[in-house]
Amino acid sequence: MLDLLIGGFYGDEGKGKVASYMAFKDMPYMAVRTGSINAGHTVIYNGRKYGFRLLPSACLNGKSMLAMAPGSLIKRDVLFRELEETKSAERLMIDPHAGVITDQEIEDERNNEHLKGKVGSTLQGVGSAESKRILRTLKLAKDYEELSKYIANIPDTVIGALEQDKNVHVEATQGHFLSLYHGEYPFVTSRNTTASGVLSEVGIGPKYAGNIIIIFKAFITRVGGGPLAGELSHEEAKRLGADEYGTVTGRARRVAHFDSKVAKEVARINSANQMAITKLDVKFKGAYKVREYGKLPSEAKKWVEEIENEVGIPATLLGTGEEAMDMIDRRAELVG
Ligand code: IMP
Repeated sequence: MLDLLIGGFYGDEGKGKVASYMAFKDMPYMAVRTGSINAGHTVIYNGRKYGFRLLPSACLNGKSMLAMAPGSLIKRDVLFRELEETKSAERLMIDPHAGVITDQEIEDERNNEHLKGKVGSTLQGVGSAESKRILRTLKLAKDYEELSKYIANIPDTVIGALEQDKNVHVEATQGHFLSLYHGEYPFVTSRNTTASGVLSEVGIGPKYAGNIIIIFKAFITRVGGGPLAGELSHEEAKRLGADEYGTVTGRARRVAHFDSKVAKEVARINSANQMAITKLDVKFKGAYKVREYGKLPSEAKKWVEEIENEVGIPATLLGTGEEAMDMIDRRAELVG
């Protein structure tokens, strides 16, 4: 079975948290990362904080094979740093067609007024590298000798594992509204971040999708330019404990309340059959570190159930704290 984890809003929904919880709990055969270094996935495990920009969050579970999808873009120094930090090099596979970002693409973006100004890019060279790929001038993983020992056909490996009934997690990056095609252009990233785009980046067809878990946060945040309906002032966000700062850039995130209508549309377009909601403990203080649904404060349960009714899919995973394992897992009960 394939579990596809997709961001439901503007990125920063807590994909690292959900992916790492699932990686420890399910011990999948393999975890695949899409996207690139503009997305930082935060994982807090045993009191230690990690910010992964390339490796799947399953790098911490000591067991799962780790894969970089053909549609991903790697940067070698970031990759080697993360491999060293997590001692996971022997579990890594990179598709020969994964793109490679160099300092040149970062430099190009730093000199790009449109990206710096209007778009509010993270300036990590991702869009510049992607544009070179489209012009067919970008070098790929297969072109670098130092990556040769990791090279493997990822679509073939994923499909082979699924044919043997093994569990594969796909950890997507960013979120629905940052999609180049379906987001709020031009305030978007340089790829299609929705379920269909992520399957394409991995290189497998839709019939393999299995569970599509759309990840929401108990409130909406975004960084950079572009619209944010119902945006709260920074002071109001702070008062609610919902002020956040970017993993890669350190910028203060803009904040709005959760919106079920928006969530429903997103779940539908991504054909999600489950949702995860992170940071329930920020909205309901009594939810902090609760790991059983029955032990949540009644107003938190009422809120979750209202959202399930409005969005139309079960909320199977509920984040209740910063640690990877601070999670209420209702998958067995709600989807079997
Ligand atoms: P770029 O993809 O770095 O060029 O950034 C384009 C837009 O997407 C900017 O508004 C960024 O803030 C936003 N963005 C890119 N990656 C992420 C992410 O991982 N989380 C949240 N926002 C992101």
